[in-house]
Amino acid sequence: MRTACAILVCLLAYIDMIHSQSTTVRTSKGYIQGFSQGQTIKFLGIPYATAQRYQYSTIDIPAWTSALNATKTGAMCPQKCAGTRQAIYCTKDQSEECLTLNVVRPLHNPSQGATFPVIVYIHGGDFSSGSGSAPVYDADYFASRGHVIVVTINYRLGAFGFLSIFDKYGDAAGNFGFRDQQMALTWIKVNIPAFDGDPDRITVIGDGSGCLSAVSHLASPVSQPLFKSAVLHSCPWTVPFLSREQARSQAAAFSRQLACAVNDIACYRAKSADDILRAQVSVKSDSYSSNSLVAFFPWGPSIDHREIFYSPYDVFKDTSRFDSKPLVIGVTADEGVGFVYQRFPMPLSRGHYDSFMASSVTNINDQSLPASTVSTATHSGNVDMREALVRYINNNVFSCPAVFVAKQIERKQVQNTGSGRSGFARRINTSGFPASSPPAKVWMFEFTMPTSLPGSFTVQQQQMTNALWSSRLSANNFCDKRSCHGADIRALFYSNALPLIERLKTEEIGKQMVRYWSNFARYGNVNGIIGSRAHLRTLQIQSALVTDSANRGLNLNTNTRPRSNTVSFPLGGLNVRQLTSPARLTLQSALASFTYWPEFSTQGSEPLTTMLLHQPPVELRRNHWTQTCGGGQSRPRRRWG
Ligand SMILES: *[C@@H]1O[C@H](CO)[C@@H](O)[C@H](O)[C@H]1NC(C)=O
Ligand SMILES: *[C@@H]1O[C@H](CO)[C@@H](O)[C@H](O)[C@H]1NC(C)=O
Repeated sequence: MRTACAILVCLLAYIDMIHSQSTTVRTSKGYIQGFSQGQTIKFLGIPYATAQRYQYSTIDIPAWTSALNATKTGAMCPQKCAGTRQAIYCTKDQSEECLTLNVVRPLHNPSQGATFPVIVYIHGGDFSSGSGSAPVYDADYFASRGHVIVVTINYRLGAFGFLSIFDKYGDAAGNFGFRDQQMALTWIKVNIPAFDGDPDRITVIGDGSGCLSAVSHLASPVSQPLFKSAVLHSCPWTVPFLSREQARSQAAAFSRQLACAVNDIACYRAKSADDILRAQVSVKSDSYSSNSLVAFFPWGPSIDHREIFYSPYDVFKDTSRFDSKPLVIGVTADEGVGFVYQRFPMPLSRGHYDSFMASSVTNINDQSLPASTVSTATHSGNVDMREALVRYINNNVFSCPAVFVAKQIERKQVQNTGSGRSGFARRINTSGFPASSPPAKVWMFEFTMPTSLPGSFTVQQQQMTNALWSSRLSANNFCDKRSCHGADIRALFYSNALPLIERLKTEEIGKQMVRYWSNFARYGNVNGIIGSRAHLRTLQIQSALVTDSANRGLNLNTNTRPRSNTVSFPLGGLNVRQLTSPARLTLQSALASFTYWPEFSTQGSEPLTTMLLHQPPVELRRNHWTQTCGGGQSRPRRRWG
């Protein structure tokens, strides 16, 4: 009886605590009224900045007096939702007054006066589409399961966000969308304590063009104090940003479409948003860039020499160009599929393939990338070169550059910590980043879970699932049995807006990812902290996956793609590999047959927490990336032990 009463008292106290969790917070501009939903409290459509068209945004917005009703997401920034975009990505509710963000926090209080780590999600969509308010990024699951605050943001897109405008001295203004992101990060840094968030544990997650944005923030002295770590999903690394000259030709072509004089801002402002959108899509990338990869995002950042000095990949060619922060870097297994089959719905001839390759050839000659994927293919007669192009894009645009970037970050880490490796000069302080920035850690993952799993579905279910992707990929379902661009983000958010069938299939992987990602945001380590409950749970989830015989029937390596030396979790999906921790990697290897980089290790400086799990390294397997990407960098190979 006494126990029962005690439980009841606790329960009542608990309920009371939940109820007392306020849905009203006070920000720098006034009170905001959110609402509780499920295990979260949501504050939607918060205006964080304001801007006129073709003006840098400012967070200096007028304060409001009565509480702001934050129960509905703000409008999406203007974009084309035409046919190929699904409703869960794009809605008709659009306006140029779109600089809003959404804060989703757990319903419960953080334990004992602590704070929640914060995740800021920068959405993808070629710098021309998408919105942080899109139903696919509903953060209900992520925030409540990960016990983190998730902030999703809008920023200006397409010609609204990335037209370059030159003044009479030839100085360019532009990258408005990028600056919007910076304003959002600033707002979050200042205001997140009001939501019980920790302003010193902000992790930026970016996907696709959002990933490249995150990279540009890593390389921006203005942005980098605004966050602590980043998760880079599917950066199309080797697609260059526009040079000043290219931005100038793009602006000229755009102004002709609008019948405005170039740089006549008053004329641009007099046009309707639809006029701007029409002009945006009618300017083709080959009119200002000879690189066929620019078609990935015809409207994206330009190198303005104010804040953006390098294309994303070039940032990492010199370790003084970026800040050393903990990073998780990953790709899906079939990044290139969507890009290729959307642009080439018909078979691709050898001739067209060759000209595509020729116009992106600058990347082929990069030492850190595969020399060429052409030479190994044999051709005769009427071939369809689309699969060869997919492989090229997988390797040269996504995977191999990601490996190079991870190595460079680790290289910088070794430089920073000076952990006894000769041959690495100590870092030269040229970038404006404090030379004492703490050592980073880098983890890599490859998301291999197929977008759809035919065979385990009924025909009707298959059609439902395939329709998800086929709407983006013309009449054919090219993502069948493949892990297409964006599949990992869908699983991570695990939004209620996903079709039920997809939710069923991605539930396990979604849990796993939220665990890793929120560990990373909380501890700076995807594996959490030894001894903490979070860590133990991570291990249990991994073990359960590996030993769950009920799931062993799913063989995800049925593809004919050349990845036979990759072994996935039985459920498919997520291989996490930490570059800098031999102990952890050994454990991962044992569980997931995953491998590590022999070149670098921070042996001797490994925190005790990870060493507890140390086992002698087992067989040193070379990851398929090592084989595919080659060892471009001529650095001495090092081995452990
Ligand atoms: C807030 O907005 C929602 C819908 O947008 C509406 O239903 C609700 O009544 C509003 N609340 C207040 C206090 O105005
Ligand atoms: C590195 O450079 C920045 C900017 O030039 C400077 O403020 C900082 O003090 C330097 N750090 C060190 C350790 O020299």
